[in-house]
Amino acid sequence: MPHVVTIERHILEMQKEYPSATGDFSALMYDIAFAAKIIGSSVRKAGLVDILGLTGSENVQGEKVQKLDDFANDTIFRALDHTGRLCCMASEEIEGLIEIPKEFNCGKYVLAFDPLDGSSNIDANVSIGTIFSIFQKVSKKERGTIEDCLQQGKKQVAAGYIIYGSSTMLVYTAGNGVHGFTLDPSIGEFLLSHSYIITPKRGKIYSCNEGNYAKWDTNLQKYIDYIKTPDKASGRPYKSRYIGSLVADFHRNLLYGGIFIYPADKSNPNGKLRLLYEANPLAFIVEQAGGAASDGEIDIMEKTAEELHERSPLIIGSYEDVREVEDFLSGKRT
Ligand code: AHG
Ligand code: MN
Ligand code: MN
Repeated sequence: MPHVVTIERHILEMQKEYPSATGDFSALMYDIAFAAKIIGSSVRKAGLVDILGLTGSENVQGEKVQKLDDFANDTIFRALDHTGRLCCMASEEIEGLIEIPKEFNCGKYVLAFDPLDGSSNIDANVSIGTIFSIFQKVSKKERGTIEDCLQQGKKQVAAGYIIYGSSTMLVYTAGNGVHGFTLDPSIGEFLLSHSYIITPKRGKIYSCNEGNYAKWDTNLQKYIDYIKTPDKASGRPYKSRYIGSLVADFHRNLLYGGIFIYPADKSNPNGKLRLLYEANPLAFIVEQAGGAASDGEIDIMEKTAEELHERSPLIIGSYEDVREVEDFLSGKRT
């Protein structure tokens, strides 16, 4: 039989190097992968099952909730609430802390997640994803509290995403490299397909919603103008690639190199993306892959969220590109 490596086997094989990986941790990753398989199977037939379109409700962000967002949120909650591995959860779709039901034991991990990222793209069959971030419990009480969720980004013990694209992939880090697993639908297992992913130091792709250009800081406008100005020696102009699904834009740039920017603007002083379950987990992954993630001034993982749905500007991708954006934003470069 060929050497197939499932997520569980991967973590067990690397367990000695993973400070946080215990049997509990590999089981938690397995639970997340299980939930992802269920979500993926519904995403793949969304057009058939009456789960397209809006629930009509709004989430805490004031955004219209797509039925699949709700379904994905419930799937993750139900797959993980009874396992005794989590002390609490936080989700983009739920306003407050998600407690573990009293009838179940609490564990030592905290899960923050975006159940479905890029949901505005669901009806158009564009790649979407699920993003997750894992902390260890720090509060003293038996059951988790909001304090367990509001930890500094660099305290994450693991982070990852699932991208429901041409194939379904789970990409994660537990602090020892970034590893990608591709779902083999014929056996229903995620198998190791990308070991120790490293992102190029500099890319040739930029991803941002230029429709907001007029609302941006002038120094950011100067950076965008700069990377669009032809200059053979420095590989400019960059290619513009923007899917509008953070997971899909991030994953492409992680593999090919490039820069994703969702900045602050005149109407969103902290940008649009959420620190806890979008910026933080992808920052952990990109730094483990040799890239960088910043809010324009400080590294994302230096920040500590003060509330669950706190937003943050996000500049993430190839190391040299991120630092170059920071130099433009600070006025060091023009
Ligand atoms: P979500 O679907 O979880 O709310 O996330 C959507 C985010 C992110 O996926 C994407 O990068 C960004 O919204 C796109 O925003 P714009 O449509 O404003 O460009
Ligand atoms: Mn999202
Ligand atoms: Mn979402």
